[in-house]
Amino acid sequence: MATLRCPLIAGNWKMNLDHLQSIAFVQKLGWALKDAKYVESNVEVALFPPFTDLRSVQTLINADSLPFAFGAQDLSMFDDGAHTGDISGLFLKALECSYVIVGHSERRADHSEDDAIVAAKSRAAIRHSLVPIVCVGETAEDLETHGAAKIPVEQLTKVLEALDAKDNYVVAYEPVWAIGSGQAATPDQANDVAAALRETIAQVHGSERAEATRILYGGSVKAANIASLMKRPDVDGALVGGASLDVSEFSSIIQFPKHVTLDS
Ligand code: 13P
Repeated sequence: MATLRCPLIAGNWKMNLDHLQSIAFVQKLGWALKDAKYVESNVEVALFPPFTDLRSVQTLINADSLPFAFGAQDLSMFDDGAHTGDISGLFLKALECSYVIVGHSERRADHSEDDAIVAAKSRAAIRHSLVPIVCVGETAEDLETHGAAKIPVEQLTKVLEALDAKDNYVVAYEPVWAIGSGQAATPDQANDVAAALRETIAQVHGSERAEATRILYGGSVKAANIASLMKRPDVDGALVGGASLDVSEFSSIIQFPKHVTLDS
């Protein structure tokens, strides 16, 4: 983790917690971090609830001045019009979302989202001043055939070509085989691919953009492995799925600087 990039711990709730459950969860997380005397300037925390929870989460965060950013798990590539079931970046911005996840492997698989769609969605996010968290990652089969970095680098290149060097974006490296499997990439594996992705950013958008861009790791991140991941120079944070739904586990992940010296 390079010191010039503020670490980002992002909780992707996926299709979990309804709007009432989201209120209880965010309240408890706020209390847990307050009790632990968490200092918000050291680590940025962002929550990604389902669309139907966003208004509740926004209202609670504002009312209690909680130190959390939030965003959506997807957006439409279009801004408005006849696109039944889609959600515009305009609406997300109106709810004060800061971020939006694009190209998650579950959307690529469940909704046949290809790199062109992910690029168009990333552009839509930028159009509405939302920071896209662009997800890339290889399947177990890709890993076997091509090694770890080839597919993520190709996926990212397609998105970067559609964006501008001045655009603000985050990249999340999420090996598909590590998601929900309980088997995270090793810190060295995660760092090697993050370094290759940073090199790709440098080639397409220049070294300044590459140095400033946060690259997250996602896939079976837990309190027990976050510290060793965060010690690697090119890993700037985590996109956490299952463990972001457990208040004490997620609050422990957020507080990784407290245990970063305990393991390697
Ligand atoms: P898990 O942390 O449950 O493996 O999920 C990772 C993920 O897909 C986050 O977007």
